[in-house]
Parts: sequence; structure tokens; C-alpha cells
Amino acid sequence: MNTSPIRIFSPATVANVACGFDVLGFCLNHPGDEISMRLIPETVIRIINKTHFLIPTEPHKNTLGVSLQAFLNALNYRESGFEIIIEKKIMPGSGVGSSSASAAASVVGANYLLGNKYSKADLVQYAMQGELAASGAAHADNVAPALLGGFVLIRSYKPLDIVQIPYPADLYAAVVHPQIEVRTEDARRVLKKYVPLKDAITQWGNVGGLIAGLYRGDYELIGRSLEDVIVEPVRSLLIPSYKEVKKTALENGALGCSISGSGPSIFALCRGKEVAEKVAHAMSQKFQESEIENCIYVSAINPKGTIVLN
Ligand code: HSE
Repeated sequence: MNTSPIRIFSPATVANVACGFDVLGFCLNHPGDEISMRLIPETVIRIINKTHFLIPTEPHKNTLGVSLQAFLNALNYRESGFEIIIEKKIMPGSGVGSSSASAAASVVGANYLLGNKYSKADLVQYAMQGELAASGAAHADNVAPALLGGFVLIRSYKPLDIVQIPYPADLYAAVVHPQIEVRTEDARRVLKKYVPLKDAITQWGNVGGLIAGLYRGDYELIGRSLEDVIVEPVRSLLIPSYKEVKKTALENGALGCSISGSGPSIFALCRGKEVAEKVAHAMSQKFQESEIENCIYVSAINPKGTIVLN
């Protein structure tokens, strides 16, 4: 048995992308988690946390462990165990796919160590089990873009149908992360169960518009379509200064702006890196004016997703 460790990088993601609750997501270049993983003779999953984040290391309570176990169960694999050392950079509860990055990393790592027999698309279903453990819902709009990279549409959950969407080269994301925690589970609990037909019509018009805009490289259409009339009105109440930050992003040239995943991070899509940097700094400044600590990320869309580094 080869017990040499491999290193895996797994990036942050922006889920929902305004109008696409649970069905749209894209991948960032940074921040990202790194894990080191190796086979061990004992048939256990051993997790070692080398970060200052409080993360459970019992495999059945840990996103990495749950995803990995789901993958191993499907393979009926019992010949060795795995040791995983976590070096997390994405803060849990930040809204940029912290748990998904971990879930994606563990299944990509295990697949690699066991001979790379499965595609990343095959691995999405196992990483979703990690999301289920972390947030109570097996949503794929973080894990799919984290694994595959790029812009991703979950066309259907049953059966799982994942579609990668092309996007224009000059599309950049500005993300601001206020240093407060919003747990996905809580942010899902506040959502209304029923949607008025008029809101559904607006929302699916926007989803179609966003997809068409991405395909056509039509930045104006992308911007017009970044509107969420269903989830954002409820969840934005959990984020202090949300309205002001969004207003500032748009005034500084963002195409559109909304909550990243379940928040509290806020993302804006922009045409070009320069605009994205200006927007990110303006959003950060707005939070600072309300004395809310925050950090910013500016990134092009990451086309690769989770990768094995060595
Ligand atoms: N679609 C999920 C939600 C993403 O909004 O609850 C969580 O990051």
C-alpha cells in the first residue's frame, strides 16, 4: 500500500447567484481549503484539524468524513483507511461554500488515491452528503461548482442533472465577508415554503435571462437578471447594512449584487477586474462605516475547481 500523502486544493464558491436558489453556483480562485490525505492500514477515517476553526473531527460529524464515507460505501471499499489533515482557510458560516470545499476535497482525494476511476461529476452526489450533514439539506449549488469549476446549473436533483454553463472571460466577482456568522441551517429555516405565482414568474424569467446572458456574453443581460425576489428579501434581514452595501456595489459599477449562498457574504458580478476591485473596496468601506469587520475577495471565475496539487 502506498501511504504517501497527496495535497488537494478546494476553492470557495458562490451559490444561488441571486435568482437561482439551490440551482446556480460559480467557483472562485480564492479563498480555498487545502487538505493532505493518505491511505492508512487501519480501516478508519482519521481527521486531524490543523486550523484554529472549531471543527468536529469525528468522521460522522465532519463534512469531509461524511462525504468520504458515502463515497466508500458506494464503492463497497474496506481495504484501507484514510488520514486527512485539514488546513482550512474558508471560515465556516461565511457563505462562500466552506463546508462544500471540504466535502469536495475529500472525495477528490479519495478518488485519486483509489485510482481516479470516477469523474468529478460522479463525485457530486457524495459531496452532497457532506452538505446534508452540515446544513440539513443536500443542496449541490456549492459542491458542484467547487468540484467542477466554472458556472454550474443544477437542472434537476432527481435525477441529478448538472449542466456547466459557459461565461464571458471578463466576468469577475467581488465578495465581501462581514465577520458575523450565519449558519446555512438557520438561513434555510427562515425561508417561506410557498412562493406567489407572480414572484415565481419574475424569478424564472431571471434564471433564464442569466443563463442566456452568460451564453451570449451579454453583460447587461447578466446584470438585469441578477435579481432575487424570493429569498433575498427574507435573508437580507440577517445581514446588517445589507441594503447600503448593495447600493454601493451598484453605484460603483457592479452588474448586479446579492447574497452569496446563505450569507453573510455578499457578492457582486462585475465586468473586468478593475471594476470588481473598486466595488469590493466600496462594499468593505460601507461595512466599516457601520463598524463591521470584513474581508474582501476579488476573483475571476475559476474554471478548474478542486485539484490534486501533487
Ligand atoms: N443554496 C444554499 C442556500 C446555499 O442558499 O441555502 C448555501 O450556501
